[in-house]
Amino acid sequence: MKPTNNLPDGSKMPIFLRRMKFIFQPLEYVEDFAKAYGDNFTLWGRNDSQMVYFSHPQALQQIFSADSGQLEVGRGNRILKFMLGSNSLLLLEGDSHQRQRQLLTPPFHGDRMRAYGETISEITQQVTDEWKVGKPFHIRTPMQEITLRVILRVVFGLDEGPRLEKIRQLLSSLLESMGSPLASVGLFFRFMQKDFGAWSPWGRMVRLLQQIDEMIYALIRERRAESEQNRQDILSLMMSARYDDGQAMTDEELRDELMTLLTAGHETTASALTWAFYWVDHYPEVRDKLVRELNTLGDNPDPSTVARLPYLTAVCQETLRIYPIAINAFPRIVRSPIEIMDYKLPEGTIIFPSIYLAHHREETYPQSKQFRPERFLERQFSPYEYLPFGGGNRRCIGLAFAQYEMKLVLATIVSRFQVSFVNKRPVRPVRRGLTLALPGGMQTVATPVQKRANTPVLV
Ligand code: HEM
Repeated sequence: MKPTNNLPDGSKMPIFLRRMKFIFQPLEYVEDFAKAYGDNFTLWGRNDSQMVYFSHPQALQQIFSADSGQLEVGRGNRILKFMLGSNSLLLLEGDSHQRQRQLLTPPFHGDRMRAYGETISEITQQVTDEWKVGKPFHIRTPMQEITLRVILRVVFGLDEGPRLEKIRQLLSSLLESMGSPLASVGLFFRFMQKDFGAWSPWGRMVRLLQQIDEMIYALIRERRAESEQNRQDILSLMMSARYDDGQAMTDEELRDELMTLLTAGHETTASALTWAFYWVDHYPEVRDKLVRELNTLGDNPDPSTVARLPYLTAVCQETLRIYPIAINAFPRIVRSPIEIMDYKLPEGTIIFPSIYLAHHREETYPQSKQFRPERFLERQFSPYEYLPFGGGNRRCIGLAFAQYEMKLVLATIVSRFQVSFVNKRPVRPVRRGLTLALPGGMQTVATPVQKRANTPVLV
């Protein structure tokens, strides 16, 4: 038996019970352990394997700045291989991970990212133009449509058309089919991953994936045959990139990376936006302040000016703090013994950097359960106190893009509509795959707002 006395205290709750709680009560799962054992705790599993949760800023700093040879990430993300493929950035390690990151990061930052500002606002307008006044709808649906259309444009550089529409529908169905807490059981229990035909949950997922793959491969073939050299979309960038030995990316590598960006790049932002609307409706004073700030802008403000608004920024930050979309950063598996705070973690230990617990430390965030954007105007938080996008060499590559998109979509809609939840009761988040989401069935209605003389229209 491995020595355990230098790990944080923790629990040996039976694995099945623990997993069910992890799936169906994702917040209670971490909160209850933290209440019993503090910021850092250990959960023992089969064969005395250990998972250690950390949320103390000092521990998070040490984890995120550890040598990448000491902590392994790709292996811990294998649960996603069936969908993203083995060449996905999430599953890569070492040099190949670094190389792919360098290729994929620039399009989501700086001028390249800002160039998408107008597109984001335009797509938001198009989607919300379809809203029928007074007719209830689930706010997640339009948010998902907006973020999916945006990421498809960025990744494939394609304008609207039947092809894009088809991929959009297939991806939505795929993510919807794995979105419910019940479907998440299939992700975490291998025995559920059986194809019993098109009507079984896993079988349906497999068939949707096959159709998406066919479309992606057809797009790659077409793009290879095309003569236009000036495309700036990510698919074209990846196709023209060369490894050190002069080799281009294979079709399989391209497919896996495209799938990664399409899924990582829209579900998350759609969930974040859905929460933002929940909070803005839940706290009318937040909405009033936001509207007042948006009213200070002139007509047709530049998207970058909108994205710099302090209160709008704080509302988005607080949204990602209180219920971070990812409860934990990716698990890190210890490759060679490592010391975190005073704990000595042996090889094979699985480390979970807990974003949710770090965001609810009373020491850092007094009255942490209260939605209070002002806390981001009053002080700055270190990357180990506020980490909705994880940290270190695995920090989310879409961090800047996601926040930019969130602000533009929220500003565009809040200046045109009041979005109200039909039922005003407070809600607890539910698991949606690997993320925390608003429970399904929360209906909203949208009422157009009276435009004041200087209300901004963001196109
Ligand atoms: C609100 C929206 C988003 C949230 C909350 C979010 C959160 C995260 C988190 C927590 C991680 C793990 C980081 C770690 O373990 O240290 C991550 C990784 C990643 N995210 Fe995001 N993300 C968002 C949007 C996006 C977007 C828009 C894209 C791309 C277009 C994206 C692409 C990725 C990729 C490729 C990785 C893997 C990075 C690597 O392994 O090197 N994400 N994200």
